[in-house]
Amino acid sequence: MYADRIRHPALQQKLMPASDAASLFRDGMTVGMSGFTRAGDAKALPLALVERACREPFSLTLLTGASLGNDSDGLMANAGLLARRMPFQADAALRHKINNGEVMFIDQHLSETAEQLRSGALHPVDIAVIEAVAITEDGGIVPTMAVGNSASFVQQAKQIIVELNLSAPLALEGLHDIYVPQPRPGRAPIPLVEPGQRIGTTAIPVDPARIAAIVVTASPDSPSNVLPPDEETDAIARHVIAFLEGEVAAGRMTEKLLPLQAGIGTIANAVLHGLTQSSFRDLTMYSEVLQDSAIELLDSGQLALASASSITLSAAKHEHFLRNLERYRERIVLRPQEISNHPEIVRRLGIIGLNTALEFDIYGNVNSTHVGGTHMMNGIGGSGDFARNGELAIFVSKSVAKDGAISSVVPMVAHVDHTEHDVDVLVTEWGLADLRGLAPRERALLIIERCAHPSYRPALLAYYEEALRRGGQTPHVLEKALSWHEQYWLYGSMNYKNLSI
Ligand code: COA
Repeated sequence: MYADRIRHPALQQKLMPASDAASLFRDGMTVGMSGFTRAGDAKALPLALVERACREPFSLTLLTGASLGNDSDGLMANAGLLARRMPFQADAALRHKINNGEVMFIDQHLSETAEQLRSGALHPVDIAVIEAVAITEDGGIVPTMAVGNSASFVQQAKQIIVELNLSAPLALEGLHDIYVPQPRPGRAPIPLVEPGQRIGTTAIPVDPARIAAIVVTASPDSPSNVLPPDEETDAIARHVIAFLEGEVAAGRMTEKLLPLQAGIGTIANAVLHGLTQSSFRDLTMYSEVLQDSAIELLDSGQLALASASSITLSAAKHEHFLRNLERYRERIVLRPQEISNHPEIVRRLGIIGLNTALEFDIYGNVNSTHVGGTHMMNGIGGSGDFARNGELAIFVSKSVAKDGAISSVVPMVAHVDHTEHDVDVLVTEWGLADLRGLAPRERALLIIERCAHPSYRPALLAYYEEALRRGGQTPHVLEKALSWHEQYWLYGSMNYKNLSI
């Protein structure tokens, strides 16, 4: 059966229903599942585990590449299956459990999970569950639309379950480039010097004897849920394009720019979409996820090639991508996330990182993860991998959230993901603040004047002036620094009575 997809004959014996494969799991195990930003996730096993958890209480530590699709994260969380979860999620039900303290969530730079597993800092993976297009003649696992941490999970797990997805075309084979860094100490440099370069194998090498089960599914990836561009995201895109044109005019980059990275979500996708209106040509991407906008840029011919760890598309773009796969084959590479996000490579290539902030403060510190400073939204994802190590760390945000009740520019962020030392450029629909080479006192005025919503500017200026009277390299009125968040918590609006804070 499925001879074209299970090409190692002995592995035919390992075919079994998902419910039988689910019986291999034991309470308290650490499980590594494929899946990155709703792409390439196992579909049948999570459901079989949820069914089992409804019959008998048992829980797991679940590691993935990033977020899962098909509501798997939420279903597993609601079934009480997830004791611990890392390194990223984007599911409303799981988010609720995390913020209630029922699931211990470890929010981690996406390049780091595999390193911590390899060094033994994390509990070893007991079972790896990997979605695959096919298993090759020598047992190699060909991933589907994401690589994520799958190669490292496979390398380290005691047992491997392969979930063969019949809805993923065999033609995906060849898109992947699997390279796992050597152990430390004495690791050799990763030999990647061009975004499109291939340095590894097209399948994840594995001793077939370690494959304990093969499960078959035909469920497709969940479509991405990003919203289309709007007036504000169009304005943000225009500011970013004008800034990059300025970099070219100043001779710091050519029209090809440097390789681009764009984070998840509606805003980053819309900004990248805006590049279709730019005059840049022969662009490259070295990112962790490719969204609809990357396919649009490949189609318009402006993007020469794209490297990432996953492809997450809307339903229409997904169909278009698969129908025209041959057109993209030579122009897309899918890599392990520790390679797509690797600090060594991000610094070497000089990535332009474009990520989204929930809020940022008048000195340039960015909060991407914690609503109100306490409640987890999704996680830091790869934004830190790129912001810390790239050539340019650009953070975008709409100037207000929740119909203006929240200012995205605040006196002090209530949680810091990206420090002022890592952030180069801030952008809202009102304008762009280039912070490079500026001291905190110079940054504050620029950020307030260029990026804050006009209705919040007077209050921000009043705060800054009061802070200046106290002095310091980074002046603050400490007892008022988080009062905007407190106002929102108490009254549902930062605008409440405090305009002249
Ligand atoms: N306080 C509270 N909520 C805020 C907020 C703030 N300062 N700013 C935005 N929000 C809310 C929005 O209102 C929206 O809420 P809703 O879902 O109830 O409508 C939600 O956050 C998402 O914002 P949206 O404007 O739709 O932007 P997005 O889809 O582009 O997502 C992030 C923005 C920050 C949540 C998302 O980019 C993210 O998780 N980033 C961190 C990870 C990352 O950057 N990875 C990069 C590499 S992939």
